[in-house]
Amino acid sequence: MESLRRTKIAAALKSTDFGSKVCVKGWVRTKRGSKNVAFIALNDGSTIHNIQVVADRENIDDSILDRIHTGASLNVIGTLTESQGSGQNVELMAESIEVYGEANPDEYPLQPKKHSLEFLREKAHLRFRTNTFSAVFRIRHAMAYAIHKFFNDKGFYYMHSPIITGSDAEGAGEMFQVTTLDLNKLPKTKDGEVDYSKDFFGKMTNLTVSGQLEGELAALALGEIYTFGPTFRAENSNTSRHLAEFWMIEPEMAFYDIHDNMDLAEEMLKYLIQYALDNCRDDLEFLQNRLLEEEKSKPQNERSELSLIDKLEFVTKNEFVRLSYTEAIKVLEDSKPNKKGQFQYPVKWGIDLQSEHERFLVEKHYKKPVILTDYPKEIKAFYMKQNDDNKTVRAMDVLFPGIGEIIGGSQREESYEKLKIRIDEMGIAEEDMWWFLETRKFGTVPHSGYGLGFERLMLFVTGMGNIRDVIPFARTPKNAEF
Ligand code: 4AD
Ligand code: MG
Repeated sequence: MESLRRTKIAAALKSTDFGSKVCVKGWVRTKRGSKNVAFIALNDGSTIHNIQVVADRENIDDSILDRIHTGASLNVIGTLTESQGSGQNVELMAESIEVYGEANPDEYPLQPKKHSLEFLREKAHLRFRTNTFSAVFRIRHAMAYAIHKFFNDKGFYYMHSPIITGSDAEGAGEMFQVTTLDLNKLPKTKDGEVDYSKDFFGKMTNLTVSGQLEGELAALALGEIYTFGPTFRAENSNTSRHLAEFWMIEPEMAFYDIHDNMDLAEEMLKYLIQYALDNCRDDLEFLQNRLLEEEKSKPQNERSELSLIDKLEFVTKNEFVRLSYTEAIKVLEDSKPNKKGQFQYPVKWGIDLQSEHERFLVEKHYKKPVILTDYPKEIKAFYMKQNDDNKTVRAMDVLFPGIGEIIGGSQREESYEKLKIRIDEMGIAEEDMWWFLETRKFGTVPHSGYGLGFERLMLFVTGMGNIRDVIPFARTPKNAEF
């Protein structure tokens, strides 16, 4: 076969250079045809759209066409022509086709029909080849890029926080231990405890639950930083919103109070959603249509009022509602579902809000994203700035429709004494935190930060319903395949 530089299908579809010779390479989505001619829809991942390859049996040998099925990989050289109704403006009249790899239709799991998302989760090694997942993962890339762009343009520095740590940043004790000790032959101390001095790091270590603590150290010198990395939580929650391994974006800013923190969070979310609207249109439209199809099978009253793109635009155009936890509890107490006993978890001041409460506030009551502040100190982490009421801390959670909590953050406690007392009260080992405390001893400043769950953002932007479908390979309880 002659050599010609490969054109990506996204570029070929935009070309109007009819009559020119092009080479495209990709995977077959479908093949249909008649006696004389085969129509092959080819996709190479550069766009949601396929290019239609027209293979006339006069030009392409039957011995080649017979090897082409859904999933096969091809190298096609042909003439770009104006299309008469393949849904695209162009198609490719094949002159030669090379089959790189066949896909036996009796064995290839992806048929040219709609598969359920559950089925595709079991086939996560191949699901990138479906329209839905290629769209999701192109958007995931765009969002990661937009996050770096947003912070870079504002003068924030990207800080790489460690993955292996000796501390529990959230104090929730939901950590995966990291060890090289032989679990069948653990070294013991005189008291019969595991002797971690014999372990790789000479102490007990775990995978990080958050890059925040190290992020604070950097912010208290570089001013404004952000981390963007994997975080790990061994919480046994098998929900559509929790992963054991997820990615988090954690900006941390010196000299920001909680209001500056909220302003930044709102600006960032709007920027990211606008970026998707401006740069991922084809993929969003595909996902929107997919959702509309899904909606048709639901009863009228359960259908969502807004389409995906309307929902995204709605968030970019409206101010988020801001109120305190205490005010939110009043709203929830006075709400219809509470009075009718419809909440699974009863509402009273002091409870950790459940997703049903968060979603009521956002979806039913305010019908807008909501930022809640000043939570009871008992349900929040040790590092949050304590309010003068002695009951609440300067926390902020951003709640989104369909998601619940998408961001959690706070102004930080900058007083050495107050922080030390809180660490003691909560039973956190001071020898694990001495370095964190020293930032409050030497040149402490008011500062704030937050964490955005990257996959929660992805759920919102793509409209997907399960967090396992917006990360390439999900890690959840009893599941680490692939
Ligand atoms: O509210 P969280 O636990 O806050 C922190 O980790 C702070 N250190 C952040 C900070 O102030 N720098 O987690 C932050 C966000 C949540 O709002 C949620 O979006 C996401 O991380 N998240 C999860 N996403 C997927 N699976 C899980 N198990 C998650 N746990 C938290
Ligand atoms: Mg939280």
